[in-house]
Amino acid sequence: MAKKLTILYGTGFGNTGLMAKAIAEGATNAGLEVILKKFDEVSPGDVEKADAIAIGLATYKGAGMPRVIEYVKSLAKVPLKGKVGTAFGSYGWSGEGPLVVSDMLSSYGMNVIEPPLRIKRIPDEEGLDTCRNLGKAIAEHIKLHEEI
Ligand SMILES: Cc1cc2nc3c(=O)[nH]c(=O)nc-3n(C[C@H](O)[C@H](O)[C@H](O)COP(=O)(O)O)c2cc1C
Repeated sequence: MAKKLTILYGTGFGNTGLMAKAIAEGATNAGLEVILKKFDEVSPGDVEKADAIAIGLATYKGAGMPRVIEYVKSLAKVPLKGKVGTAFGSYGWSGEGPLVVSDMLSSYGMNVIEPPLRIKRIPDEEGLDTCRNLGKAIAEHIKLHEEI
């Protein structure tokens, strides 16, 4: 059975959404079954049944989007230990959001892919390729941790 990746994200102007879609493309091409949703559309099962979770959020006013951070806080009750995790997001100049989420995922015992992928403003074709490669890297990490 195909391994599962859930990508959930928060975006103000769509830039982090473009990253999320490209990560989904790369992961699908690498053989993963992908669920791609905004963070407020995700069901508990989407997270619990996933082998990997990628969380995207943009940075505003020196912090990650507050509602996404609240959502990630709520994941503390979910058994995530051992799953592969990563954070990503578009930013303008400081890009704190994905760094904060990445630390939160580590604190939940996830196998976190570091550093989180951050792209300035609108991702260009090269940036989208980096996102596709992250999708592929997530598939490889799932396999790696399965073998350990
Ligand atoms: C009001 C406002 C505040 C922002 N504050 C920050 C910030 O503190 N640090 C940063 O890196 N980018 C900041 N940005 C830039 C956004 O993160 C950037 O435009 C990003 O591409 C938005 O991604 P999104 O389309 O996924 O929402 C800000 C943008 C706006 C409009």
